Order: sequence, then C-alpha cells, then structure tokens
Amino acid sequence: MNKKEQQIQSFWNDQAKKFKGSDLATAPDTYYRQLEIQRIAEYLKDGTKILDVGCGNGFSTIKFAERFPRAAFVGLDYSKDLVHFARKNLALQKPNVRKRVEFIEGDVLALRKVARLRNEKFDYIVSERCLINLLNWEQQRQALLSLKKYLKKNGRIILTENTQEGLSRLNILRQSLNLPEIKVRWHNYYMPQEKLIRFAKENFIVEEVKNIGSLYYIISRVVYAKLAALKDQEPKYLHPINQIASQLPSLGDYSPNYIFLLKNKS
Ligand SMILES: C[S@@+](CC[C@H](N)C(=O)[O-])C[C@H]1O[C@@H](n2cnc3c(N)ncnc32)[C@H](O)[C@@H]1O
Repeated sequence: MNKKEQQIQSFWNDQAKKFKGSDLATAPDTYYRQLEIQRIAEYLKDGTKILDVGCGNGFSTIKFAERFPRAAFVGLDYSKDLVHFARKNLALQKPNVRKRVEFIEGDVLALRKVARLRNEKFDYIVSERCLINLLNWEQQRQALLSLKKYLKKNGRIILTENTQEGLSRLNILRQSLNLPEIKVRWHNYYMPQEKLIRFAKENFIVEEVKNIGSLYYIISRVVYAKLAALKDQEPKYLHPINQIASQLPSLGDYSPNYIFLLKNKS
C-alpha cells in the first residue's frame, strides 16, 4: 500500500474507534442509508449466498440478513477495527442472524490472499460505497475484475457507488440556486461513469443503471439546503424533510449515488 492508501485505511479505523458499532461510522446521512439499504434489498433473493465487500461495522449486512432469513452472508472489510465492531454487532443479534453471517478482514484489491474466500462463489456481491475509497479508476476496474471471479454463473454484483457525473449533475442544480458545489472528500475517488459503463458492458451483462439517490438529493441537498441557507442555518441530516424524502421512489438523474446491476456473463 502507498502512503495515501494507508491514510485512507487509517481513516476507516479511526471512524471505528470514534463511532464503534453505530451506523454513523460509515454513513453520516441516516435516512439516506435507509433508502440505500432498501434499494439494494430489492435486488437480493432469499436462500442465496451474498458477499458484502467493504461491509464496515456490518450495519447494512445485518439489516440484509434480518430481511432475508435463509440467505448466508460474508462481510469483508480491510479495516480491522470496523470488522471488530461488526463482530460485536453480530454477537447482539438473534441466533438465526448470528449463524448465517460472518465478518472477515480482507482487501478488495487482494482477495486472493483471503483464505476464507478460496473456492467460494456467491450469488450476489454487494458493494455499498466501497470502491469509491480506492485511489483511481484503474484500481476500481481491477477490483471489479477480481470480484467477478467470486460470482457464480449468473451471479450479480450490486454495485452501489457514487459517480463523478452524478455529482456534477447535482451540482448544476445547486448552482442554479447559488448553493456551493459539493466536493468529493479527500479519501474518495468517485467512479467515472462513462468508463465504468463501457467496461461493464465488455465484462458483464448490465441489467440496470439506476440513480437511486436522485429524488432524495433534489429534496435534501437542493430544496432543503436552500431553505437552510436562507435561514443562515446548517442543514441537518436528521431533519424530517430527509426522512420524508427517503420514503419516495428514485426519480431522475441528479445524485452521485447509483446502483449498477452487473450480471456474470459466464
Ligand atoms: C463508505 S464505507 C461503507 C461501509 C458499508 N458498506 C456501509 O454501507 O455502511 C466504505 C467501507 O469500505 C471499506 N474499504 C475501503 N477500501 C477497502 C478495500 N480496499 N478493501 C476492503 N474494504 C475497503 C472501508 O473500510 C469502509 O468500511
């Protein structure tokens, strides 16, 4: 790992130390995460084997396990501290969840070194904002090719990630109301959407490309953000308007956050 990669990994270990088992360790926007979990779950099926890469402290993985009582889950993360809290969170669950979920340490860029995954194949691989923590498109591409090797025939990657183009479209809306541009945080590299789609079409069957955050972000990051700015206030993630927005369907193409549903070709 180079210096920046080590800094990003330390960032996630520090998030674990700060937030422990809380959902806030890996997503500050509680209502949006609820929407994201709901959208991902729409593609999962019960009785299947599911790998959650970049599972953090297991908050989403455990929600999926509760929702699908016959599915088996492996959550993988390269932050040893987040995996520690994922296991602690799991220990608090009912036996039917505990027995079907396991959390392991591993780097999505070095999956061959993860002994537990040897000879494993999954029906679904979920990446919920994991690959945006890699340094560049080349690493993201490598990660996708490597994840593909762990898919069963007809298995699917539910790639839930942020794109550069999606963020630009949101920022155009914000600009029209004189709201400042939302910048990508130092530890993230948003996926280049055009390159991703071209690559995905070559290597997978692209079943769906959906901007899952669009309507939520229009309400939360444009309308509510403007109302807060007019009152000289900072917007709050837990504002009821965000809760209402999270219950609406995904309409439009104005957020960074997408689901790309990629089916294994072979
Ligand atoms: C934004 S968080 C999302 C966590 C979880 N999927 C969720 O939705 O709460 C990104 C996660 O990816 C993990 N991660 C980042 N780079 C990784 C890598 N190269 N290999 C494995 N995990 C990684 C981080 O440690 C962190 O837990």
